[in-house]
Amino acid sequence: MYRDTTCGALRASEINKEVLLSGWVHKLRDKGFVVWIDLRDRYGITQLVFDEERTSKELLEKARTIGRETVIQIKGQVIERASKNPNIPTGEIEVLVSELKVLNESILPPFTIEDETDGGEDIRMKYRYLDIRRNPVKDNLIFRHKVSMEVRKYLSDAGFIDVETPYLIKSTPEGARDFLVPSRMNEGQFYALPQSPQTFKQLLMVGGMDKYFQIVKCFRDEDLRADRQPEFTQIDCEMAFVEQEDILNTFEGLTKHLLKEIKGVAVNSFPRMTFDDAMKTYGNDKPDIRFGMQFGELNEVAQHKEFKVFNSAELVVGIAVPGANSYTRKEIDKLIDWVKRPQVGALGMVYCRCNDDGTFKSSVDKFYNQEDFAKWAEVTQANAGDLICVLSGDTNKVRAQLSALRMEMAERLGLRKADEYAPLWVIDFPLLELDEETGHYHAMHHPFTSPKPGQLELLDTDPGAVKANAYDLVLNGNEIGGGSIRIHDKETQAIMFKHLGFSIEEAKSQFGFLMDAFQYGAPPHGGIAFGLDRLVSILGGQETIRDFIAFPKNNSGRDVMIDAPAIIDDDQLKDLHLKLDL
Ligand code: AMO
Repeated sequence: MYRDTTCGALRASEINKEVLLSGWVHKLRDKGFVVWIDLRDRYGITQLVFDEERTSKELLEKARTIGRETVIQIKGQVIERASKNPNIPTGEIEVLVSELKVLNESILPPFTIEDETDGGEDIRMKYRYLDIRRNPVKDNLIFRHKVSMEVRKYLSDAGFIDVETPYLIKSTPEGARDFLVPSRMNEGQFYALPQSPQTFKQLLMVGGMDKYFQIVKCFRDEDLRADRQPEFTQIDCEMAFVEQEDILNTFEGLTKHLLKEIKGVAVNSFPRMTFDDAMKTYGNDKPDIRFGMQFGELNEVAQHKEFKVFNSAELVVGIAVPGANSYTRKEIDKLIDWVKRPQVGALGMVYCRCNDDGTFKSSVDKFYNQEDFAKWAEVTQANAGDLICVLSGDTNKVRAQLSALRMEMAERLGLRKADEYAPLWVIDFPLLELDEETGHYHAMHHPFTSPKPGQLELLDTDPGAVKANAYDLVLNGNEIGGGSIRIHDKETQAIMFKHLGFSIEEAKSQFGFLMDAFQYGAPPHGGIAFGLDRLVSILGGQETIRDFIAFPKNNSGRDVMIDAPAIIDDDQLKDLHLKLDL
């Protein structure tokens, strides 16, 4: 037996008790006549004490030689601490050690296992198993566990059945590149790892499962960001005989349940915003609505004066940054430099100060009078003390730029509060999106998404205007889930494939199985998938999903701990019938 209790369990009520503990040596303090060791395990820290008075000389000597992170087992008696530590749950007691056994020694760790460590990101990733010993990482993993258990409980209680779908499949297009796996037994052929279980969950509906869910790994070969990993986890769900309203209600229920159980936050019904309104008001299809700074379109009030830049722009749009009239000229110049960075890409920024006495002072005073600025203030809902920031240019670009500025200002002003939760549904997404580079349309969600009723005909005349039965769940400026009502008949699916540029043969070879299945009584169905990593990190008050993944990849898609991806040897290549031409 290694232990009869844990390092987080002992309290004053256990004083005098004999205990057996195992754990890691967190810290050692040697005062000569007395040695204290903080013993750590997943559950907490318990202070061990060895002293000249009560401990044998031999044991005291042994204790003081033990290095950090050594795994030890001790036997001892719980005693009251002379100086109590109110900061930890075991702070009222310590354990007077009578026996000590070294179970496994540790070499010196490359960084200190403390909440505030001296280890940089790279070194902590290389030794992730040591990083996991630290409270912030450990707590995040336990938090993730709690969220996923609540998800399972809620969905299972609501009648959803957890079904596993395969990982070695054929491409399921979700807009990224596939990770491919060569087949040894089928020369020259490859499996694709699923970008999502999309087609399988639809086939489960054809199979009559009615309500499906799975907490499942998905694989996407795309550029990484703070909220993206090449392999990530979805809470993937599908329901039969449902309309959009049924899905929104069911998963609003799940989200409310999580907010309540995990964060103790009660949220009323989630607002719904159309994609068009989100773009117009926030320049973004995943708006953070915890704060205002809504866009005010200024074309009507700012164009056709002498200011050429605005006159030639497709869109002139501004936000009123609360209290930012206090910015000095230098600070505003810095802000202008910020929007001109290549990551944002604005050509410049016009500003207008809203003074406390009701007057305005702007960078374009030459072209506009006080009345004009009063209109700007009205449109952007600016108050005295605010700074109106205005960008202009092509609609799509300018919206993205102003959205970036809005988020930056909110960050600087502390308006993105981690403990405030503002979920919303963004609905009525366009069915198709024009790829500016190729000039082709592709599915904005995925090719299995159904157009809104009665809009199928529009596909021929104005494909960009067709709206889909598609929705996203947005939380604090992050897309945490997305889904749609699906096409469930072969004819409509064939029309979709045609518009997406698939020939009949291509559609058949890639998705013949789904089109075939639709001929055998496919029920109307729809679903959604949440990004579990994103959901967990936002509930945890952060936005970097890596911190909530046990063994994440770095920004180049590498696992630096196991050093993957890696070169494979010639025999393996031969088995797989592969030749590398490097
Ligand atoms: P979608 O592509 O919108 O939909 O993905 C669903 C959710 O998964 C999360 N997500 C990611 N999280 C981390 N890293 C990534 N690389 C990544 N990519 C996506 C997001 C996103 O909202 N099959 C459809 C769902 C459906 O229609 O039911 C799908 O996969 O939070």
